[in-house]
Formats: sequence, structure tokens, C-alpha cells
Amino acid sequence: MVALVTGGGSGIGAAIARSLSSAGAALFLCGRRQAALAQLASELPGPVRFATCDVRDPSSIEGTVAQCVEGLGRLDVLVNNAGVFGPTPVEEVTLDAWDEVLETNLRGPFLFARAAWGHLRSSHGQIVNISSVAGVQGFVGNSAYCASKFGLNGLSEVLALEGKAHGIRVFSVCPGSVDTDLWVPHSEESERARMMRPEAVADLVRWLVASPRSIAVAPVVVTNFSSPFSQD
Ligand SMILES: NC(=O)c1ccc[n+]([C@@H]2O[C@H](COP(=O)([O-])OP(=O)(O)OC[C@H]3O[C@@H](n4cnc5c(N)ncnc54)[C@H](OP(=O)(O)O)[C@@H]3O)[C@@H](O)[C@H]2O)c1
Repeated sequence: MVALVTGGGSGIGAAIARSLSSAGAALFLCGRRQAALAQLASELPGPVRFATCDVRDPSSIEGTVAQCVEGLGRLDVLVNNAGVFGPTPVEEVTLDAWDEVLETNLRGPFLFARAAWGHLRSSHGQIVNISSVAGVQGFVGNSAYCASKFGLNGLSEVLALEGKAHGIRVFSVCPGSVDTDLWVPHSEESERARMMRPEAVADLVRWLVASPRSIAVAPVVVTNFSSPFSQD
């Protein structure tokens, strides 16, 4: 199995890469920071390649999918994980900030899915979109983030429907708060200590892609048993 993980150099993406690698997958990691990708690649046992890629750049995405297939021979699982988060009251959201969130969290997964589609048709592959609980409920200060993740759930539903005819399965995973770098500017250490570990999400992804091909799974909302926040 060859899996391509966007935003694979840190947080949930790195945990997914580790989990899939330990299940025997070959990994292709991408993100903007080469050092983070190289570090993780050096720690993984199996075949692993990486490339820098900005998911806001369509030509970078086409090239990354091509590099994955050239380097590892095929593509079985696309994990659209790269994402950004920047809570801001709606009146203060600039157009640039809105565009950055929507281009990263929603347009990027669409472009990756489109670029990978032909390869996934050949492999009867799978897509896992890392959405959020913010894709099924609103959160104060998260207009752009919630819009992007609600949109990603809609995109996932359509990809799942269109994929059926080609043997492509599509999953959407919607975690509550997870202790990663995403939260460092926005939350205290004591709050982060009560969040889910990235490995919890990663092991769920590993289970989904190994699950019987006879089943489809609706968006999976996985939240904290002891959330630091009242809403999730
Ligand atoms: N942490 C949570 O509570 C939580 C909850 C629900 C959903 N999620 C989702 O989980 C995903 C991973 O987030 P995380 O929590 O693991 O945070 P993280 O450690 O900050 O990871 C985000 C990853 O996305 C990559 N990325 C961001 N912008 C990119 C761009 N323009 N091009 C390519 N890569 C880009 C980053 O790599 P570079 O900086 O190297 O590009 C980084 O590896 C996101 O989609 C997030 O929305 C997180």
C-alpha cells in the first residue's frame, strides 16, 4: 500500500504516517517545511519519500502526486490532512486570512483528489479527508475554519458518491481538539494536556483504510472524553 499524506511532517499527519507505516505502508509525505519531512522520513522503517509542496499552489499539487507515483509506483491512499487554523472574530477576518484558510483546508483537498483520481481509479484506492468537529457544528471565532471544514465534508460526500463507480472509497474524519502545534498560539499547556493525542486519530485512520471493502463509513466525529472546551 502506498499512502500520500499532506501535512505529513507534524501533528496528526505525522501520527498517521507512523501508524500506516507500522502497518506496512510505503509513505509519501509532503508539506512546506522540508526539515520536518526529512526528520520523520529518517525515522520511518519502510519505503518513504517526501517533497515540499504548498497545497495552495495547484501546479505544486500535480507535481507532488506525479512524484509519488514515479517514486513509489502507485497510489492507494490519499490523506488530505494539511490544514491551518486561526480563530478570529468575524468582523476582523481579512480577505487574505479567509482565502488562506479556504485555499488550504478546502481547495487543497479538492485539487489533490482531482490530481490523484486517475491513480486511485487504477488502484481502487481510498481518500481520507481530515475534517473537524468544526465541520459539523459552528464555533465562535471560526467563520473561515468552520466554512472550510463544512465544505470539506460536502466535498467528501460527493467524492464518495462519484468514487463508488470506480471502486474508490472516501472517508471524512472529524476530530475534536487534538494536542498539536496548531493549538500552541491559542491555548494553555494545561488545556492541551486534556486534548486527544494525535495517535488516537491516526489509529482511527489506519482502521478505516483497512476496514472491509464491503462497508462505507459516514463522517466519523471523534471528540474528547474530557474536553477542555464546553462545545466539543
Ligand atoms: N489539532 C486539532 O485540534 C484538530 C482538530 C480537528 C481537525 N484538525 C485538522 O487536522 C489537520 C492537521 O492539523 P494538526 O492539528 O496536526 O496541526 P499541525 O501540526 O499544525 O499540522 C498542520 C500541517 O499542515 C501543513 N500545512 C499547513 N499549511 C500548508 C500548506 N499551505 N501547504 C502544505 N502543507 C501545509 C503543515 O506543514 P507545513 O507547515 O510544513 O507546511 C503541518 O504539517 C488539519 O487539517 C486540522 O484542521 C486538527
